[in-house]
Amino acid sequence: MKPDTISNDCQLNSSGKLIHLLGLKDLPKKHLENILDSADGLLSKNGNLKKSKALKGMSVANLFFEPSTRTRNTFEIAAKRSSANTINVDLENSATRKNETLMDTMQTLKAMQIDMFIIRHKKNGLPHHVAANIEGVAIINAGDGINAHPTQALLDMLTIRQYKQSFENLSVAIVGDVRHSRVARSGIHALKTLGTKDIRLIAPAYLLYKETTSPDLERFDNLQKGLEGVDIIMSLRLQKERMVAAEIPNEKNYFENYGITNETLKLAKPDAIVMHPGPVNRGIEVDSSVADGPQSVILKQVTNGIAVRMAAMEVLAGAL
Ligand code: NCD
Repeated sequence: MKPDTISNDCQLNSSGKLIHLLGLKDLPKKHLENILDSADGLLSKNGNLKKSKALKGMSVANLFFEPSTRTRNTFEIAAKRSSANTINVDLENSATRKNETLMDTMQTLKAMQIDMFIIRHKKNGLPHHVAANIEGVAIINAGDGINAHPTQALLDMLTIRQYKQSFENLSVAIVGDVRHSRVARSGIHALKTLGTKDIRLIAPAYLLYKETTSPDLERFDNLQKGLEGVDIIMSLRLQKERMVAAEIPNEKNYFENYGITNETLKLAKPDAIVMHPGPVNRGIEVDSSVADGPQSVILKQVTNGIAVRMAAMEVLAGAL
């Protein structure tokens, strides 16, 4: 399924309550801000994470059909900090390998009284399909194909909110492999919902959207031009696993043209922040001196990811 054709309708129930978190496209601003505000409440003044009892007695299952380090681990840590029981389903050795259908696996887990499924899958729309076919379980999309990664975009918004006054007057540059990026798709929806008008996509043409959608986004194939005066630089990983061999750029050329270095960073505002969802390829997307430099908020994003995931699970638990 094409990302733009996937509907998130079933994440709201008939009275408008959030019952799943599948994507940020068409998610009303009040729901988005409610998760950000709840996440704020889970952070102390110095940015440390609090603990909460909101998920006590609940069970959360991590179902990661694609590799992941930070997303899977931060979901697990978040569930534990909110007092839930967690299980990491061993999909390598699970019955899906014996041809059990995915929905049968889901129904079996539900019968084990699991309240929430955190799903990552290479297929666009897979978490939406599960959500539409199961009742009494909350589904969180932890990344589906190139479609959506709502908790990543929420943690990015939380991070931006901590450094910048408002979303309305921001200039945001999204740099790199936009075409294969669920992070960029969800991020753009969130930024638009929060009122950002100046969103720039910077990449060689073949790494930009093929779709003619989002004509309102400015596209640049020149990094220097695109970075001029921006407040936020969101660098993206080159997602080689989603490219055919002929599309994979030469890394040295790519870094020379699109790498964020101390020099290119000077084109942005002096107080600009540099973000990356990780995993970072140092010396390809971002130079080490920038990734470890004073304007980098990459590790802050990781901590914020726990607060946002706690908040998202707690909001959904309230509707179960
Ligand atoms: C992203 C993902 O998996 O979509 N990473 C993440 O969630 N931390 C981005 C990426 O893999 O490039």
